[in-house]
Amino acid sequence: TASRKLDVSPDTDTLSRRVADMVVEHSDDAIRARGAFNVAVSGGSLPSMLAKYLVQPDVADKVQWDKWNLFFADERCVPLDDDESNYKLVKSALLDRISIPDAQVFPIDPALSPEACAAEYQARMLKAETTGSGFVAPSGSGVVFDLVLLGMGPDGHTASLFPGHKLLEEHTKLVAHIEDSPKPPPSRITLTFPVLNAARCVAFLAAGSGKQEMMVRIHQQKDSTLPAQCVQPENGTLIWYMDSAAAEKLPAN
Ligand code: 6PG
Repeated sequence: TASRKLDVSPDTDTLSRRVADMVVEHSDDAIRARGAFNVAVSGGSLPSMLAKYLVQPDVADKVQWDKWNLFFADERCVPLDDDESNYKLVKSALLDRISIPDAQVFPIDPALSPEACAAEYQARMLKAETTGSGFVAPSGSGVVFDLVLLGMGPDGHTASLFPGHKLLEEHTKLVAHIEDSPKPPPSRITLTFPVLNAARCVAFLAAGSGKQEMMVRIHQQKDSTLPAQCVQPENGTLIWYMDSAAAEKLPAN
């Protein structure tokens, strides 16, 4: 199983700084080792927490954005300019302020049905031009992200993998669709456990007192029905970035 680290910041500002530092380090390491940085990001509160320091010139100027390939860990099946779109969130928080080439950002095709959208996203991911970066596994049937950035909902969901949903049993597809998401909007696509657990590093960002109870349950590792707890990269690292409010009820270590 993966080594799991807990990283508790006194406030969300510090959390954003620590996450920015971590992203820069992973980006540098991946580019040095394999020539590209392949990353997946989620929606919710994550894009703004992620971007806060990453876009500051003293940080952003050190990043080789032209070597980034940015994918979505999950996305709502809505137009890309819809307020519910994770792409729109990530674009305004991050992409509009840095310089990843357009061809290296991978939004969904919202014109497709959710099912076709997931299949097309999987196909595009497997064909992604990340030459030599080791992104597509040698078998051709899987991908290895350098970093996946995830949030966690108060019910323990992550990406668009919800407790009790049949998608938790998905072992074949890399990208799957859901049309009955308990968190609106109902139609979404999501990376599945086979992709999340193949990543070199998965980092969760959890801030605020609304995450306290679920953090305790996940830390106890007793409830294998919680999607966020099932993210355990097989050969990678797992880091939980929290603010003190989210971590408040965790036992002191
Ligand atoms: C989405 C998100 C989702 C999110 C969690 C946590 O599209 O809804 O990707 O998985 O990350 O619900 O959201 P918060 O960070 O806003 O609590």
